[in-house]
This record gives sequence, structure tokens and C-alpha cells, in this order.
Amino acid sequence: MFITFEGIEGSGKTTQIKYIFEFLKDRGHDCVMTREPGNTKIGKKIRKILLDPDNKDMAPLTELLLYMADRAQHIKEVILPSLSEGKIVLCDRYYDATVAYQGFSRGLDIEFINNLHRLILDDLKPDLTFLLDLPPEIGLSRAWKQIENGARTRSESRFEQETLAFHEKVRTGYLALARLEPYRFRVTNASADESQVRNDIMAVLNAVLSCTKMSRKDL
Ligand code: TMP
Repeated sequence: MFITFEGIEGSGKTTQIKYIFEFLKDRGHDCVMTREPGNTKIGKKIRKILLDPDNKDMAPLTELLLYMADRAQHIKEVILPSLSEGKIVLCDRYYDATVAYQGFSRGLDIEFINNLHRLILDDLKPDLTFLLDLPPEIGLSRAWKQIENGARTRSESRFEQETLAFHEKVRTGYLALARLEPYRFRVTNASADESQVRNDIMAVLNAVLSCTKMSRKDL
């Protein structure tokens, strides 16, 4: 099973994904926690370039192609092998992020992005996507607090330095994607406190896991 987590900066994805990973492991599920960009040796180098605030002049197309390069490597090295071994893959961001950030917010052609995805994804879509939704002013203020208290590194703050309007467009993009695929997306109110968000995610996850168990028994 392939599960992705999406949301603007400061939505709390990383905290939630860690909790879910431990929860699933404790219950004996074989699972992998991964992220984009930067979960392979090559991807780490790409991540550095993408998130470095010094690279504020990066052209949108350069940015798009670097995310695609990271993803192509990630699919080949991590996602496909893990899924073919029957593992649950929990991924912090995947292709919806590209459509929301580079498509909706940077303004690159979404059909062009989808065509590139058709080339590199080999139809590898998530089974379930949690969208942690919240107003960008709350998300950005949380993200900057984490940078100021050292929980996040300033050397990866290129997107945090974008305007509020940029992040508004990302949020609008994500919500539009969720409306297009209501069976895949679960939209969670991420401005609630951490434990409430966790309970909302766990309720969905437990339901999905028990359905999977039932359908296996039925076979
Ligand atoms: P994060 O790992 O802290 O979530 O940072 C990754 C940043 O990269 C975040 O600002 C969103 C951005 N991003 C894109 O713009 N496009 C993408 O395809 C992905 C995966 C991330």
C-alpha cells in the first residue's frame, strides 16, 4: 500500500508521518517511511540545490525538472522495490506537490507536468493521500518558529521565503486536486492541535487497514 502526505509548510506532515510509521511498525506491519525531495544519495544533493535560499533565481522549469529527477530516482531506488516486497510505503510529499507548487503556484502548464509524470511514474499512484490543510498564515508562522528555534534548518528555507500569496495558491491547488479525486484524498484540518490531527488520520487509516484485511480474507 502506498500512502502519501501532502500540505503546505507548517502543516505538521512530518510529525504525523513519524507517529504513523511507529504505530504501524509496533503492530507488525512492514513499512517504509520516505520523503521527497531527498531520500536517495542523489536525491539528497538535489534537495540541497532545491531548498537553498541562495538559489532564489532558479527558473521554474529548472525547479520542475529537479523535482522530477529526484522523483525518478526515488521511485526506482525506494518506492517500487518496497512496494514489490509488499511493504507499506509512507511518503512525505509526492507528485501532487509538483502539481500544487510548480503548477498552481509557479504557473507552469499542468498538462505538461502531467505528461512528464506519465513518463516517469509508470502509473505509480498513491492508494491514499492525506492532505493536511490549513491557512498559510498559520502554517508559515509555525514553519518560521521551527526555523528560529533550530528544529528546521534555515539552509532549506527557500520556499518558506516565498510570499503568502504563493502559499495561498499552493493551498488552492491542493484543494482542487482533492476535489478531483475524492476517493484517494482525505482532507484533514491541520490547524487543529497535533493530537486531534493524529486522531483524524488514525481513524481513516484503521478503517482502510481493516478493509484491506477483510478483502484479503475474502480471497
Ligand atoms: P519539506 O521536505 O520540508 O516538505 O520541503 C520540501 C519543499 O519542496 C516544500 O517547500 C515543498 C517543495 N516541493 C515542491 O515545490 N515540489 C515538489 O514536487 C515537492 C516534492 C516539494
